[in-house]
Amino acid sequence: MTTLLAAPLRLAVEEAPELVGGSSLPMLLLVLGLGGFALAYVLVGPGSRKGPKRHGDIPLAMRPYHSDAELEGPGLERAMSWGVAFAVFAALFLPLYWLIEPGRINDRVEDFYEADVATGRAQYQNACASCHGVNLEGGSAPHPDPDVTAAWPVPALNNIVARYQDSAVVDDVREHILLTLRYGRTGSPMQAFSVGNGGALSDFQLEAIAAYILSVQTGELPQATSYVGRSSEDVFAANCARCHGENAEGYVGPQLQNVFERYGWTGEDDASLEEARAAVRQAIVNGRIVPGQAPMPSFTGVLTDEAIDAVVDHLLSIQRTGGPAYGQIGGDPVAAPAEE
Ligand code: HEC
Ligand code: HEC
Repeated sequence: MTTLLAAPLRLAVEEAPELVGGSSLPMLLLVLGLGGFALAYVLVGPGSRKGPKRHGDIPLAMRPYHSDAELEGPGLERAMSWGVAFAVFAALFLPLYWLIEPGRINDRVEDFYEADVATGRAQYQNACASCHGVNLEGGSAPHPDPDVTAAWPVPALNNIVARYQDSAVVDDVREHILLTLRYGRTGSPMQAFSVGNGGALSDFQLEAIAAYILSVQTGELPQATSYVGRSSEDVFAANCARCHGENAEGYVGPQLQNVFERYGWTGEDDASLEEARAAVRQAIVNGRIVPGQAPMPSFTGVLTDEAIDAVVDHLLSIQRTGGPAYGQIGGDPVAAPAEE
């Protein structure tokens, strides 16, 4: 009886606010019915039986049971009526419960989701809005190197799902947001926010922020910048220099002064040049995002195809064959991103 009662009573307590609003009338009826049933059981039913103790000193297992006359008397009828009553109750209660429960669970899931989004919104406004914008529209942040005056562009987050829709490096945007928050982006103004990496936000808070970001997607892609009428050098200075250095000498990203050679260019105008061009272009189009390492953001949607070609041309124009190794420039060591 207690287990039978426990579930609906717990429901009744949880649903209490909604009951007042009258949204779950069946639940109210059910609980009232159950309560009345329990009361009747104790007051007039089998629970109420009293009287002198029979066979007081005979051990329990040896007591004679009721006589046939007693067993077939009104007691039998009473027991059978209670049996019918229980059967009717079970026949009504179980289907009703089965009908109500899925809706109740859905409401709960929705409530939890809304609470997450509200928590995430508050956390976002505290920790992220200064750079990513109050409405997630993006902005800019100071360069971490105090000697560099150019600002670091901060991506908009209200279109992050659309931006990564066809990405070759990111297949789960929620996971991408969480990893970015957990590890930050080495060398960029985007720091790590998880407690485990020196930040101040718990996993729960990070997940709430991700839920909030995903709940306010506009679905619109940003307008790529074409840089019409500006030199390819300009495009490089505006988009690449903050990571690869003014002269592609390397900064948080590797030096690019012999990147064509690294991708197999022999120095001739042949197939090896086409392959190297394609590989460099691919790095720019897809970017490379390895959690915990400096990012190479994707320039899809940031630069038009023509602007990307212009950057590749610029890189080609400054190539030196037999130049420094991946992490080096002119013999001066520059840390490769993997070693940071
Ligand atoms: C100091 C400024 C700053 C703050 C504060 C900041 N970010 Fe960022 N965030 C950046 C920059 C800059 C980038 C881009 C780094 C790069 O160039 O790859 C970035 C990148 C990201 C990305 C990856 C975007 C993409 O397109 O891949 C996500 C997601 C992100 N931030 C979320 C957040 C959230 C959530 C918070 C708050 C907890 C936050 N950021 C706080 C500056 C900031
Ligand atoms: C936020 C910093 C950042 C920006 C901005 C950036 N890169 Fe990178 N780039 C990197 C990092 C870091 C790597 C190394 C990634 C890796 O391999 O893990 C890289 C790698 C590359 C590579 C491949 C190098 C190799 O040897 O494999 C090319 C090519 C490249 N970037 C070109 C560009 C161009 C062109 C631009 C401007 C349109 C640009 N990058 C903007 C950080 C950046």
